[in-house]
Amino acid sequence: MSEKPNFENLLLDVKDGIATISFNRPKALNALNEATLRELRNALFYIEHHAAGREGEEIIHAVILTGSGEKAFVAGADIIEMKDKSTSDGEEFARFGQSITRALELLPQPVIAAVNGFALGGGCEFAMACDFIIASENAVFGQPEVALGIIPGFGGCVRLARYVGLPMAKELIYSGRKIKADEAKRIGLVNEIVPLTELLPRAKAIAEEMKKNSPLAVSRVKKLMNQVQVSTMDSALREEALLFASLFGSYDQKEGMSAFAEKRKANFRGE
Ligand code: CAA
Repeated sequence: MSEKPNFENLLLDVKDGIATISFNRPKALNALNEATLRELRNALFYIEHHAAGREGEEIIHAVILTGSGEKAFVAGADIIEMKDKSTSDGEEFARFGQSITRALELLPQPVIAAVNGFALGGGCEFAMACDFIIASENAVFGQPEVALGIIPGFGGCVRLARYVGLPMAKELIYSGRKIKADEAKRIGLVNEIVPLTELLPRAKAIAEEMKKNSPLAVSRVKKLMNQVQVSTMDSALREEALLFASLFGSYDQKEGMSAFAEKRKANFRGE
């Protein structure tokens, strides 16, 4: 899929090696209906196809996930579409949403969540499936599902605990309490808070910093850092050594180190 797809509920902008995906259903505060999830899956296919190491394709180095407008990143899964689901529909929907949060997490490129307002339920879950979150001052996070008689279903029970620790995740999920950006930063959910107008420029500046590096090394270390969170210390250290070694067979390692020795800028190829 090398032709950029068009969407109804998303915007996909690719410029200078950085892809920005914006959820774009303003009438429902960007709530995730099934059509939006299918579109996001297609956007991720497209971006994955432009990762380092795909011959003949322009490289997408980094991805920003955000919401259109000034009010919401995503206000959750679409409650109106969900309300009449049966048990089996519910399972199918959760598995579908989980498969897309997982695809986002496993994308070879780094993904920055730029949270510009409400990130509730599925919205918080999609933000947490990114590599890290930066937020605008008006951002609000929460997993309010228990107030609707359900629980987080797109990986929130697992990922929130990884971000903020088990006791804090339990408090937030059992209460459904919504938290503002400053509290989200204090508990480790958010890396940085900026004014709303600075959010996308700041996300782009971070992406630009990453873009200077070997895309091969960045994608490999992303995979490793996701793996080591679920490994034992010994197997994680073994993985790290193997990956470190494997990069010595790459063009980018020879180029990066030669450029340092020759006091010039490296010209990485992602190979
Ligand atoms: N699903 C469908 N529509 C939604 C929505 C959602 N999650 N969130 C907001 N909307 C719609 C509203 O129904 C409303 O539509 P109408 O104008 O047609 O009535 C429109 O967006 C604007 O919303 P509000 O009028 O409610 O705006 P507000 O500023 O008063 O409140 C809010 C904002 C606090 C975010 C409130 O909309 C809200 O509580 N939304 C639901 C949040 C939520 O519970 N999310 C979790 C969903 S369950 C889930 O995500 C499960 C999972 O893990 C996958």
